[in-house]
Amino acid sequence: MKVIINYLFTIVIVSFLFSCSGGNQENKAYQENEENAVASTAEKDKTGENLYMKYCMACHQTDGSGVPGMYPPLKKSPIVNSGKKEEFINILLNGLRGPIEINGQKYNQQMPSQNFLTDEELSQIINYVSKSFDNNGTEVTPDDIGKLRK
Ligand code: HEC
Repeated sequence: MKVIINYLFTIVIVSFLFSCSGGNQENKAYQENEENAVASTAEKDKTGENLYMKYCMACHQTDGSGVPGMYPPLKKSPIVNSGKKEEFINILLNGLRGPIEINGQKYNQQMPSQNFLTDEELSQIINYVSKSFDNNGTEVTPDDIGKLRK
């Protein structure tokens, strides 16, 4: 009799454990799905960053800190944060040459025009730079670029 009771007891315990772990697995799968959904949304927002890495990073560096005496920083740049979006847009459309001073460092180099990029691409780059590298610059639309393109 005792053996049978022990046997039944074991069955109850085992089936209880089984149902618990099954529930956990379902939960885990649900969490993973949610994480994937969040990751793919973040992926979409990377367009500006990817364009920056392709067209600006070689000179202005991954973290926007530039190269002293050669390429000025975009990090905390007074031009990026001026609130006048035209200035930033015009530099990308026309390039920049001649002496400027950014955050106490003088530069006298030449930046090539980036006007081979579309209005959409330039606006994505500007909006990425404006909200990265400790900046708080003004958002722009592709229309803003189109109006200044000659
Ligand atoms: C070939 C190197 C090079 C590339 C590529 C380049 N820049 Fe520049 N950039 C420069 C140089 C050099 C200057 C400073 C020119 C001067 O001395 O007058 C400059 C100046 C600037 C300035 C104004 C100064 C400052 O630090 O705020 C901004 C804004 C800027 N670049 C943004 C960009 C962005 C955004 C891209 C990518 C679309 C880009 N640049 C691509 C070399 C480059």
